[in-house]
Amino acid sequence: MTKIFGVIGHPIGHSLSPNMHQAAYQDINVDAHYYAFDVEPNQLGDAIKGMKALGISGFNVTVPHKVAIMEYLDEIDEDAKAIGAVNTVKNDNGRLIGFNTDGPGYVSGLKTVAQLEGQNVLIIGAGGAARGIAITLANTRIKSLTITNRTAQKAKEIITACNDKVNLNVLEIQAAEENLAQFDIIINTTSVGLYPNIDECPLDLRRLRKGSYVSDIIYNPFYTKWLQIAKEKGAVVQNGVPMFVNQGALAFEIWMGRKPNLKVMENTVIQQLGGKQNANR
Ligand code: ATR
Repeated sequence: MTKIFGVIGHPIGHSLSPNMHQAAYQDINVDAHYYAFDVEPNQLGDAIKGMKALGISGFNVTVPHKVAIMEYLDEIDEDAKAIGAVNTVKNDNGRLIGFNTDGPGYVSGLKTVAQLEGQNVLIIGAGGAARGIAITLANTRIKSLTITNRTAQKAKEIITACNDKVNLNVLEIQAAEENLAQFDIIINTTSVGLYPNIDECPLDLRRLRKGSYVSDIIYNPFYTKWLQIAKEKGAVVQNGVPMFVNQGALAFEIWMGRKPNLKVMENTVIQQLGGKQNANR
């Protein structure tokens, strides 16, 4: 029987997920379809009941439902619980199980350009995306994790939720800017620089060390002004495409029990964004 997958969010019209997943299904010749469902927040409970009743095999969850979905699920994976949000749901014979592939997806993408062991990492921002990335990174072999955010209290809350195997810190934005040279990997998780505010930058890069890794989870614009400045200053840069593709690939794996063709997924996303991926060549 044809398997049905999808993504729920509001708004959802511009989602890149349906084409990305469909391309991965076609690549392995599986009889499956992936659709975008626009679900208003006050309809979430009914939508989930409908997903169950219709036997939808699995679905992704995006803004604004990533936290609210949790109360409707039968089981939540431990990592997703620690992150406090769910972006992937698997229908396991009528039981809905929630996972979070955003943080792990980001880290998988980061590993393709940077080695993590022994690195000092700075995260800018303390929202949902930062939380997933920070909690995932704190379980790797990085040396230290520092969070800087406009609202410092939110950064402290994330640090409290992280595994203290690594050295954890919170810095005010100005202090992070002044001490920028001590970081090997710098990650923007805020929406600063996102279209249409394309001239804004989340952090001053004057003290950026040449050869450091600078990454932005934004992919619209394809390369933010901030990433372009980082590149001019000799950093290795990465945009939000690898995170997006890898969170989708991990969801695919949860649903299908096998890995998808990442390249096919990435090419589909890049084509939809009308861009060229490799900024470092
Ligand atoms: P997401 O789930 O995508 O992470 P979010 O939870 O709304 O989104 O978090 C947005 C992040 O971007 C927060 O760190 C927010 O800072 P505050 O915690 O101080 O609100 C940050 N952010 C958004 N707009 C910003 C701006 N104009 N300047 C600085 N930080 C901003």
